[in-house]
Amino acid sequence: MTASGFILERDVLKTLKPYPLYYPCSGRDYLDAIRLFAPHITEFFFVDWSYFQRKPADQVKPILQHKPAYQLIDVEFSEGPLSAITEWRIDPDTGRSYRWIEPCRRSERYIHVPSSQEIVIHRRRGSGASGLKKLIQQLGIFYYRGDSSEGSNLLWLRVNTRKHKRGKRFLFDEVLDRIVDNGLIVTDGSNCPYGEYHEFARFHATHDEISGEEAMRSATSFTDCRGFSYRCVGYAGHRYGPTLIWQVSRPD
Ligand SMILES: C[S@@+](CC[C@H](N)C(=O)[O-])C[C@H]1O[C@@H](n2cnc3c(N)ncnc32)[C@H](O)[C@@H]1O
Repeated sequence: MTASGFILERDVLKTLKPYPLYYPCSGRDYLDAIRLFAPHITEFFFVDWSYFQRKPADQVKPILQHKPAYQLIDVEFSEGPLSAITEWRIDPDTGRSYRWIEPCRRSERYIHVPSSQEIVIHRRRGSGASGLKKLIQQLGIFYYRGDSSEGSNLLWLRVNTRKHKRGKRFLFDEVLDRIVDNGLIVTDGSNCPYGEYHEFARFHATHDEISGEEAMRSATSFTDCRGFSYRCVGYAGHRYGPTLIWQVSRPD
């Protein structure tokens, strides 16, 4: 157990250093992910379409400005305009209108002083789903929690096995296509209705009724319809229930 009450099996991060952490619909929930995984993980993507809406991207404060262990080296901007531009567009496939937001990425580069390791933290204004497809080729950690039907209503962890067998793709397929062997899924089971991945959500909405240790002890390893196996290896604090850390083994 770490000083912050988080739990993580030793050596789990050993092979993950070259790969980023991706957190869609992250809101302001930055610090636990950084505290848990930096400096072993060196690149973090937080993606939310609410970023840089009230202030342009060059006027928001650095995420780690009050953390003496981190020294800011520089800040870069990419992809789109610093101030948010939104418009209604028509999806040519469905004829439905949807709200389009011009993406913008703010990338803060730090030195983690105790280890001299460089860390890059990206905040991206834009869609969580298109950000994953556009920015990430290989993924070390998929981090998703604190969301609901009243939040993004994106069913990141839902796969309908019957439809999947008939070839339909789900958002979680985009994660599994990219996650490396021994990569991690960190989740409290948000937006995960009953089905293939229900083990992720077994303790969802139990809030403080169960400790991290108890949740870890009761979490059952499982294998999904694509042959990926999941084993609980840690606990990352409570959100809508305990946030558990699952290690993914890719099929051979
Ligand atoms: C309930 S909040 C959760 C925030 C964070 N996960 C937490 O635990 O504090 C849901 C967030 O999803 C964002 N959001 C909703 N739909 C989104 C989408 N399609 N792409 C990216 N972000 C989205 C909202 O702006 C909001 O910040």
